[in-house]
Parts: sequence; structure tokens; C-alpha cells
Amino acid sequence: MSFTAPIQLPGLTLDPLWYKRSVFYEVMVRSFVDANGDGSGDIAGLIGKLDYLQWLGVDALWLPPFYQSPLRDGGYDVSDFTQILPDFGTVDEFRELVTKAHERNMRVVMDFPLNHTSDQHEWFQQSRSDPDGPYGDYYVWSDTDEKYENIRIIFVDTEESNWTFDPVRRQFFFHRFFSHQPDLNFENVAVQEEIFNIVRFWLDMGVDGLRLDAIPYLFESEDGNGEGEPPTHEFIKRLRAMVDEEYPGRILIAEANQWPREVAAFFGTDEEPECHMAFDFPVMPRIFYSLRAQRADELVQILSEQTDVPKSAAWGVFLRNHDELTLEMVSEEYRQAMYGWYAYDPRMRSNIGIRRRLAPLLDNSRDEIELAHALLFSLPGSPFLYYGDEIGMGDNIWLNDRDSSRTPMQWTPDRNAGFSTADPGKLYLPVVQSLVYNYSLINVESQLAQSRSLLHWIRNVIHVRKRHPVFGLGDLKVLHTNHGSVLAFVRSYEGSGEQFGDSPEQVMCVFNFAHNPAAFEIDATGYEGAALYDLFGGGQFPTIGEDGKVTLTLGSQSFYWLHIGQPTFQAN
Ligand code: NOJ
Repeated sequence: MSFTAPIQLPGLTLDPLWYKRSVFYEVMVRSFVDANGDGSGDIAGLIGKLDYLQWLGVDALWLPPFYQSPLRDGGYDVSDFTQILPDFGTVDEFRELVTKAHERNMRVVMDFPLNHTSDQHEWFQQSRSDPDGPYGDYYVWSDTDEKYENIRIIFVDTEESNWTFDPVRRQFFFHRFFSHQPDLNFENVAVQEEIFNIVRFWLDMGVDGLRLDAIPYLFESEDGNGEGEPPTHEFIKRLRAMVDEEYPGRILIAEANQWPREVAAFFGTDEEPECHMAFDFPVMPRIFYSLRAQRADELVQILSEQTDVPKSAAWGVFLRNHDELTLEMVSEEYRQAMYGWYAYDPRMRSNIGIRRRLAPLLDNSRDEIELAHALLFSLPGSPFLYYGDEIGMGDNIWLNDRDSSRTPMQWTPDRNAGFSTADPGKLYLPVVQSLVYNYSLINVESQLAQSRSLLHWIRNVIHVRKRHPVFGLGDLKVLHTNHGSVLAFVRSYEGSGEQFGDSPEQVMCVFNFAHNPAAFEIDATGYEGAALYDLFGGGQFPTIGEDGKVTLTLGSQSFYWLHIGQPTFQAN
């Protein structure tokens, strides 16, 4: 299938590149709305809020795991891949969610933690008690804990080794994450088949895509570091081929917290594609770095490095998610700077990262929050929002681990922030009641009532982005400026012609990271004589000079998105 060919489904023509134009919204079922009053969010509650999400402009939901699970790792510890945890609802309710989302032209992407299971999974129970039985080889067992010594420990706060001794089987089992999460043995063909069948099970239900959790870690070897080893890529290629063949239009998203080249490898090639999307782990910490360093050079550098990716590939850009803000992929010097700026209290740290939400990270500065979102929505790739960040929700660093930023969504100033009718003590986590982020102040209802609220601002930006396919589909070229705090780039898109009716467009995006106003010159060679128009209000800006230069000013921590119009004169 060519990646631009429209997909024909009965009565429906789908854009196969839908994920490149989509605004994604990560919502943990447990945290959003509790419809049955048991203190935990559920699928029925989420269904009831689809109108809100549609109003916001969300095109696709990403749902972290809601499978059967002992919930010792937020549901990433699955004990049955084809069952839904009863606290969250039923398979029928999930089917209804997919249908109701589709009715609103909204897609549903679910999480698939395929690298490991919970130790409560039946496969593990069988594997440990019957080594010669059908599940004996489903996990990575060893008589010694000295294998794979090049493989780093990820959860450094809690784990001392990637091996744990199992007293039942009297062998060690391998785990990249918690010691209650044994890694599946991907060398075993039966395990690979199980994975394919679980994918089919959910895609048959109408799910539009899967986020492949912890995807670099499927295979390990004695010489390698267990991250993106060749057999892991081979496996993903086969999975992608199956999805393209049996479920065209559905997508795979790579969660690969790696250096740029390694992340890009999870896209595969045009001939042998792997994932349609990959989270942009390299760019994310550099956004936070630039905000406080007041310097654009880190972003200039990473955006100037053209990583070759297949034409159909899309980055998933994000500011925050349900995990800590990971600092694994920055240098030690930068990491220390980031800890100093953003995690001055040790309670704010977790593993190699920072367990805080966006608004508290940015000290509730509206300017910084807007600037960060302006980047999120204009960098190459599709933006992923984290539930609650659209209203600037706070966190609770007194809670354990990453629960600090998984507290109930704040809907109203009423009991339990309108999240649940349960006795407040029964909630899965308490609502945020801190001085600055108290739910009586920060909630959807009150922000709906204020036209200048963050919520309305974010909704507006989302809608502006959606009117300009250049953001999802266009190329990026960094422009030189004479100011160290200013980042400028042009996004340009040739248009899709008749197929989806998009016209060509070029947009200049300019960001000032300085905590003071700035006047600066941009070198826009190639656009001599072009008029610039503000994308939000249409106002005309200075025309680019005959020498390709334009001088602009920006207030502290602010930005422009400028449509590049036709040249008003002929350059010599
Ligand atoms: C990545 C998930 O995002 C994280 O929440 C989880 O703890 C690990 N994978 C282990 O499953």
C-alpha cells in the first residue's frame, strides 16, 4: 500500500496519514471521571466527557493500560491482556467508547505493554511452577544473575538488579522494570504469536492504534545493551507488516526513550517500516532547558540535524505525560542544571527525572506555559497533551512515585473536584488541594466561564493549528537570528493537491526565550519581499527585506506564528 493512497472502507474514505494531522490527548481512565461512584475513574465516565474533548479539538485519545492488573505500576503490570480491570469497566463499555469516539471523528489509541507482564499473569504463574510445561519458556530465566551485565537498570530508585530470584522455580528471572514485572522471552516463537494475537484482539474491536510500551527492550543479548537490538527491529517490522496487511490505517507508536538516532530507528525505512510514530524524547527536555537557560541554541542544534525518517513517519511531541520528565537523554551537566531549575526539592525527583506536572514545573507562569505550548503545537510531529495540563493542573509531590501527577481530573469546585461522588477518603488518590492549584481554583468549570483562561487559550491554539496542515505535514528549516534567546524556523508544505484539498503554505514561527523583551534580526533568505501575517488575528507584520532580513520584536517569553505571503516585490 502506498502511504498516500486513501484507504477505502465501506462508506468511508480515510486519510492514511491521519495521525500526522491529529492532536492527541493522553487520558488515564482511572484519573478522568468516576461514573459509578467507587472512587476510581472508569470507561463510562470517559464516555461522558467525549463532548468536552471534542470541543477542545482532540482528534485522538491515548489510553494508558486499563487491562486486568494488580496496579502496582499504574496498569503497566498486566495480568490478562484480553480482560479489562473491573474497576474500569467492561469490554462492552470499551466497545461503546470506541464507537462513540468514532462518531465524533475521534480515534482511540491504547497502550500495549508487550515487553513484560505482571508476576500475577497466568503465564508467569505457570512458567514458575512448571518449567517443562507450555509456558516454561515464556520468560527469561537463568541460573545466574550475572548475565547481560551491559544492560542498565531503569528504575534506579527501587531496583538493584535486572534479575530477581524466584523461590518457586529456584531460578532468576529477568526484568527491565519492577521486580514484579518479569520480561517476556521474545526468543520464544509462541510468545511472539501471543503478541500478534493480542494486537488482533484489540484492533478487531476497532482500536485505531497501539502505543508500544518500552519497545526497545524486547530482545537482549550478551554483547548488546538490550536496547533496540537487531531482533527487536526485525520483530517490529513483522508486526507492522501484519498491521498494514490486516488493519490498514491503524498505527503503531514507539515509546523509545533513546538518543535521536536510536529513536528514529524505530520508524524503520520506507521499504521496511516499523512504527508510524515515535515519541520525541530528544526534543522534550530541550524545550524545558531552553525555557530556563533563556537560550535557543540547544533547540536550534537538534532541529537542524536532519534525521532521515520514512515519509510516512511522524514524531509524537509532548511536554509531559504520566511518567517523570525523564532526563536520561541529556548530558550530566544539563541534567544538573535541570534539577536545579525544576527539582530543587529532592521529593520532586524520581529515578532519573522529575515527577511534576507542567504548570508547577513552570511555576504557574502563564507566559511560559503558553510559550511551551506554542512550541508543542508547531514543532514537526503531532502534539500529545496530558490530561489536566489544558487547565494548568497542579501535582502532589507527597504522593508516591509518579502518582504525584496522576491525581483526579479537576472538573468543578465541588466535592472531589467533580471527579467522583464517592466519600473523599475512598478516592484512588486525593484531589490536589495545594495553595496555588487547589481544585476550587483550578477546574474546567471555572475556566470555561473565563474567556481568557488557559483552557480557552489552548483550545484556540489547537483550532488554529488544525486549520493549517503545514504544522502536521510540512518540513522545517531553522533560520539564523542575531539573538541567542530567539528560535526561528519556517514550516513549509507543498499541499496535497486535489486529494485532501490542502493548499501549499509557509509559516514562520518565532520564539523568544529571554525573560525580557527582545529586538532581533532574522535571516529569511529565500523569502525576500514576502509579507508576514499573524496567523491568529491576520495582522500584517514587517515585510521581509530585499536582502532577506527582517527585524522583529517580541515581549518576554512570547512567540509569533506568521503566515509567509506572496512577495510584494521582485528580488534582484
Ligand atoms: C513505560 C511506561 O510509560 C511507564 O509508566 C511504566 O512504568 C514502564 N513503561 C514499565 O511498564
